[in-house]
Formats: sequence, structure tokens, C-alpha cells
Amino acid sequence: MKWPLVLLPLLVAPLAAQIGGRATRPKVQRPDGPVWEVIRKNCIACHGIDDYAFFALDRAGWQQLIAGKHKAGEADLSEADRAVLLDWLASRFGPSTKPFPRTYIPPEITAFFSDPEAKRLMDRACTRCHGLERVQGVRNSADGWRVTLVDMRERGATLSDEELERLVEWLGRVWGTNQDK
Ligand code: HEC
Ligand code: HEC
Repeated sequence: MKWPLVLLPLLVAPLAAQIGGRATRPKVQRPDGPVWEVIRKNCIACHGIDDYAFFALDRAGWQQLIAGKHKAGEADLSEADRAVLLDWLASRFGPSTKPFPRTYIPPEITAFFSDPEAKRLMDRACTRCHGLERVQGVRNSADGWRVTLVDMRERGATLSDEELERLVEWLGRVWGTNQDK
């Protein structure tokens, strides 16, 4: 099996958008240039762009989703604008990306892991399937780690919500992206 060394930067969340190191919703970074122009003009009158992260679709899937979610006239785009938007959506939130878990509601945590506590939990919960070097090489925002950990739990890792959140906080702090500090 081939192991990807780094996670795609799917969800880049400013730490400020989180409360006590947790996020209950995805936070999508605003694109630049022509893509933002299209979104600004057509898409943000009614809601923001964060919910896009709940989906992982190809171009056709995005087109279908947008058509299905809106009434006629609500989100109609010119041909050119649609092409720009769908290209961006399919590359940023494409089928190979991991959608933000909609069903998972992170509990509030009041206690934080020390380094040995985090290590102990990972020795117990993670090493059945792969070594910790798989984890250690990755740098991610807390949001990104949450997506990975919920994914690992769906694959069979044994973690309570509380343990998952504490590990998210620890990973985001110690093996984070550091970009917002
Ligand atoms: C006139 C208001 C309006 C505009 C403009 C609009 N939307 Fe929406 N959008 C909505 C509403 C209302 C919903 C919720 C529909 C539902 O859940 O059935 C929605 C839902 C969505 C969803 C699903 C969100 C989720 O969490 O399930 C996506 C994705 C989306 N819109 C993208 C877009 C994009 C991309 C554009 C621009 C092309 C856009 N919207 C423009 C009103 C709007
Ligand atoms: C039941 C088996 C299993 C357990 C337990 C498990 N993982 Fe994984 N993990 C996988 C598999 C399979 C992959 C490869 C996923 C892929 O290639 O898409 C993976 C990949 C990863 C990656 C690489 C990035 C990614 O998203 O593909 C990270 C980071 C990771 N695991 C972290 C953890 C952590 C942290 C734990 C413990 C909380 C854990 N894993 C427990 C099966 C597991």
C-alpha cells in the first residue's frame, strides 16, 4: 500500500474561527481572483461558502448539486462564470478529497492532552493499522486533523468523541500548520 505523505490542504481554518480549539463547522478560505469574482457576484447573497466543504464531487456532481439546491433564477450563472466556478469546486472539493463530516458534533473539551498522554492514546488507538510515523509526517490545521480522525474512526480506530477532540486539539497544536500564529 502506498501512503500519502501529506494531506491535501482541504480545509484551512483560521484558529480564530474556532472556540477553544474546536470547530463545529468547516471554514473555507476565500479563493482569489476570477473565482472569487464569480462567487461574489452569484453566490454569497444568501449564504457563505463554508458549506461547500461538506461535499466532495466531480464537476458534473457539483453542477447537479447546485441545480438541485436552488430554485430557478436563484443561482443561475452565465456559461463563462459556471465554467470558472465548477473548475474551482471540482479541484478544491473533488471526489478524492474528504468532505467535512456533517454528522460529527465535536464535544466541548475542558482538559488538554500532555505530550505523553497523546502518545499513549495514539499507541493504543492508531498502531493497529499503521505506524505513528504515518501520522508524525503530517502537518494540518485542527479542522484538517478532525477530518482525518473521524475518517480513521470510520475505518475502525477506537476513539471516544472526547478522546478524538482532545487528540484533534493536541495534533493541531503540536503537529499543526502554524500558519495562523
Ligand atoms: C437566492 C439565494 C441563494 C443564492 C444566490 C445561492 N444559494 Fe446556495 N442555497 C440557498 C438555499 C436556500 C440553500 C438551502 C437549500 C436546501 O437545503 O434545500 C442553498 C444550498 C446550497 C448548497 C448546499 C449546502 C448544504 O450545506 O447542503 C450549496 C453547496 C450551495 N447552496 C452553493 C451555492 C452556490 C455555488 C451558489 C452560487 C452559484 C449559490 N449557492 C447561490 C440559497 C442560495
Ligand atoms: C483500522 C485501521 C486504522 C486505524 C486504527 C488508524 N488508521 Fe490511520 N490510516 C488507515 C488507513 C487504511 C490509511 C490510508 C488511507 C488512505 O490511503 O486513504 C490511514 C492513513 C492515515 C493518515 C495519512 C493521511 C490520510 O488521511 O490518508 C494519517 C495522518 C492517519 N492515518 C492517522 C491516524 C491516527 C492519528 C490514528 C489513531 C487515532 C489512526 N490513523 C488509526 C487505517 C487506520
